[in-house]
Amino acid sequence: MITQFLPHGVKQAARTFRDSPFKWRYIDNLSPLIKYSVKPKALSGEARRVLTDLNRDGIAITTARKLLSDFTYYQELKTEVERIEQKLAQELDQARKNAEGVAEHKTFIFNLLGDRPTLDPQDVMVRFALQRELLQLANAYFGMLTHFRFYNVWHTFATQAPARCSQLWHRDPEDHLILKVFVYLSDVDEGAGPFTYAPGTHLKGRIHKEPEYFRETNHRAKRSEDEQMAAVVPPERWIKGLGDAGTIIFADTRGYHKGGLARTHDRIMYNCMFTSPASKTKELFARPATLSATILTREQAFALGLGI
Ligand SMILES: [Fe+2]
Repeated sequence: MITQFLPHGVKQAARTFRDSPFKWRYIDNLSPLIKYSVKPKALSGEARRVLTDLNRDGIAITTARKLLSDFTYYQELKTEVERIEQKLAQELDQARKNAEGVAEHKTFIFNLLGDRPTLDPQDVMVRFALQRELLQLANAYFGMLTHFRFYNVWHTFATQAPARCSQLWHRDPEDHLILKVFVYLSDVDEGAGPFTYAPGTHLKGRIHKEPEYFRETNHRAKRSEDEQMAAVVPPERWIKGLGDAGTIIFADTRGYHKGGLARTHDRIMYNCMFTSPASKTKELFARPATLSATILTREQAFALGLGI
C-alpha cells in the first residue's frame, strides 16, 4: 500500500477528512441532499417548534394530539400494540422472569415485533413512521432525504438490577446525525424509566467535551455513569421525557442519552429511526420479496430505499 510511505501527519489528515461531517454531508450524501434541496418542505406550527428545539438541544418533546394532523395514526398504533400485548401475554410473563438478567444484557427489554419485523408499508408500525409530520421532520433535521432503518415496540420491564447497557449514558453509533422517534404507549413517570438526554451533545450542539467512560466487556460500547455525565452537562440541564401515553420524543441519539431504567412499573414504547442514506448501519427489519412504491409519496419511497 502506497499510504504506508505517507508522513504520519498526512495520514492523520486523511483519516480526519474521511470521518468528517463535511465529507459525510457533501460527498457521501450529496445526492439525497440535492434531492431534498430542490423540493424542501416548509414545516409549520408544532412541527416547526419541534424542529427548532431538536436543532438546538438534540431533543424535542411533544404529543400526538399537538403534532399529528391525523390523530387516528396514534389511535391505530395504540390499539394494535394492545392487541399484540394480549396475544403475547404468556411470552411477556416468561420474559419478565428473566428481566433482572445477566449483567450487560438487555433482558429488561422485550421486542413486541420480534427482533426483525418484516417491512409492510400497509402496517401501522410503518405507516406511523412515514406519516407526513414524522418524515418531514426527519428530512428537515438532516437537510436531506433520509432512510428509514428501524421500528419496533419495546416493552421495558420494571427491574431492580443496577443500570446497565442503554440504561447508562451513551451515544448511538449509527451515523453523524440520528433521528429516533419514541412514542409512549403507557404513562411514563420517574418509576417507568423515562428517556433522558444531555442537551447540546449532538453534532449540531455546542458541547463537544466527552465525559469519562468505561467499556462494557460484552459489546465494547462506551458507557458513562451519572456522575461522569454530570461533569460535562449538569444534571439540572438534563431533559427527561416524562409524560402520559401519547407523548412523542424526537431525539438525535448521537448525542448523550439513557433510558429504560424502570423501577416501579413497565414502560411500553413504539420507536423508529431515521439515518442518512450513507449510514453503514443495516436495516433492522426484513424486506418482503416485492415492495411496491406506487402508493407512496416521493419521500416515503426514498425512505424505504426504493429510489426516486
Ligand atoms: Fe441509545
